[in-house]
Amino acid sequence: MGADLGLTTRLTTLPLLVSWSAMGVRAVFLVGFMASGKSSVGQELARRLNWDFVDLDAHIESRERQTVPEIFRDRGEPGFRRAEATALRNLTESLECDTVVALGGGTFAHPSNRELLRPWPSVFLDAPLEELWQRSREDATRRPLGEELSEFARLYEFRLPFYRQATVTVVTSGKDLASLCAEIERTLQFREGTEAAGSSQISPDHF
Ligand code: S3P
Repeated sequence: MGADLGLTTRLTTLPLLVSWSAMGVRAVFLVGFMASGKSSVGQELARRLNWDFVDLDAHIESRERQTVPEIFRDRGEPGFRRAEATALRNLTESLECDTVVALGGGTFAHPSNRELLRPWPSVFLDAPLEELWQRSREDATRRPLGEELSEFARLYEFRLPFYRQATVTVVTSGKDLASLCAEIERTLQFREGTEAAGSSQISPDHF
């Protein structure tokens, strides 16, 4: 994924206070801008952990029986955001197995969604704007938002502070899927029988 910036994973907020066992099932939510690799990293991470994988956009489409562009066309962005929030709530309430969830690019920018996800670890897949723009142009997925570079950049800048509220940030540039997943697993300490995000991972500047 582009040039390695030499940056490493960093925790951006305090990690979980709730143990996995207390929550019954485990879930991790991947956060990031369009084309940041949420779905590919999510699928690979789920495969490695032997967990389920859910793409929130696909979950919305199956609930609404419409594609994301159709929902935008018929109900506008506010209608899509309502469908997204409802689908997210439904998903979190119906989790039966350990699951990796790829959120949509705008999901974590909405305070009520962030609040809903507070009990679970979230991972921000961080990539530079230029790289995201390039990838979004090459991507087969057609997205209703950010068709122009100026709008893409405006959305990115607006959302960045929200993405940074995720439990951890993983810089994706220059890393392949396997190393990204290994980094996420290491940071969140995904091993059978362990709890997430041990205190040894918290850097002092977060206190
Ligand atoms: C959106 C991103 C899309 C999808 C919808 C809105 C956004 O998901 O949810 O088109 O607001 O950034 P991806 O980030 O998976 O492309």
